Amino acid sequence: MEEQIVQEDIVKAAQEEAEKAEGSRALYEVKMKFLGRAGIVTAMLKKMKEIAPEERPSFGKKVNAIREKLEQDFAAAEARVKQRELAAKLESESLDVTMPGKRQKKGALHPVTRVKNELVDIFAGMGFEIFEGPEIENDYYNFTALNTPADHPARDMQDTFYLSEEYLLRTQTSAGQIRFMEEHRPPIKMLSPGRVFRSDDDATHSPMFHQMEGLVVDKNVTLCDLQGMLDEFARTMFSSSSKTRLRPSYFPFTEPSVEVDVSCHACGGKGCPLCKGTGWIEVLGAGMVNRRVLENCGIDPDEYTGFAFGMGIERIAMLKYGINNIKLLTENDVRFLEQFKD
Ligand code: DAH
Repeated sequence: MEEQIVQEDIVKAAQEEAEKAEGSRALYEVKMKFLGRAGIVTAMLKKMKEIAPEERPSFGKKVNAIREKLEQDFAAAEARVKQRELAAKLESESLDVTMPGKRQKKGALHPVTRVKNELVDIFAGMGFEIFEGPEIENDYYNFTALNTPADHPARDMQDTFYLSEEYLLRTQTSAGQIRFMEEHRPPIKMLSPGRVFRSDDDATHSPMFHQMEGLVVDKNVTLCDLQGMLDEFARTMFSSSSKTRLRPSYFPFTEPSVEVDVSCHACGGKGCPLCKGTGWIEVLGAGMVNRRVLENCGIDPDEYTGFAFGMGIERIAMLKYGINNIKLLTENDVRFLEQFKD
């Protein structure tokens, strides 16, 4: 009878404590208090010695019954606690999918990149292949092979950053013409974008800027082909009614050489501040590839002719977007750049 009371008390006490336990850690501690190696049930079994031998089997049975009952109760309590914890976790981690998200600031392509991409699109559409030459060039590719020998006055036209007697930062993407023609035979249609460097610094000149070079070499290529392509370029880049005009000029690597003007897209050719009242804006240099240049690359100038052109990408961007200072293109002030979002 005495043990009967003990059994009920223990089970009840365990149930109460288990009920109070908050979380699986606390419940585990309660379980150990009753069922652990130093727990109440073990202590009861240890008491066996003190009990009269004839009562031991029934005492042992009772203790086992208590243990089984406790094990069942604790298993049930553990399941409950786990369930509660899972529910709490799900609750705390739940996402409110109706909440507005954090606004991501969207960047914009730099105007120089935009214009470069546009130029590539225009000329790739005409079958031009992209070639990128090195920014550190040697004297031969940047000058000599382009018919500009060491004592040639045209070398004064560009203030060059020399790295050594032989090496320099290329002053023009025209250097790529030679590299490309050394590797390829006509028909050639090459487009070469890239950085160029000159010791020059004012509102319209920067010591580093970008150029886009074009080169076409094939049989029977003429200046008319050049102008046809440039007309297409002007119409796509500036305005569908844009026209081009060629003016005689001089470059050592072309003969004849021309300066190419595009009709002013701001006034349609009537004359305005952008075109300084002339109706025309100078956009690039071009010409028929000089025979010497073809010869330098092992291409027979009696069999092949070609034209080349080179333009400043910053200049095109400034004209297209009405930017009046080239420095805006390198300062990277977001207030300026933001205006070029799509
Ligand atoms: N390289 C010239 C410059 O930097 C631009 C140029 C003029 C490129 C005529 C050409 C060309 O390919 O035919 O001023």
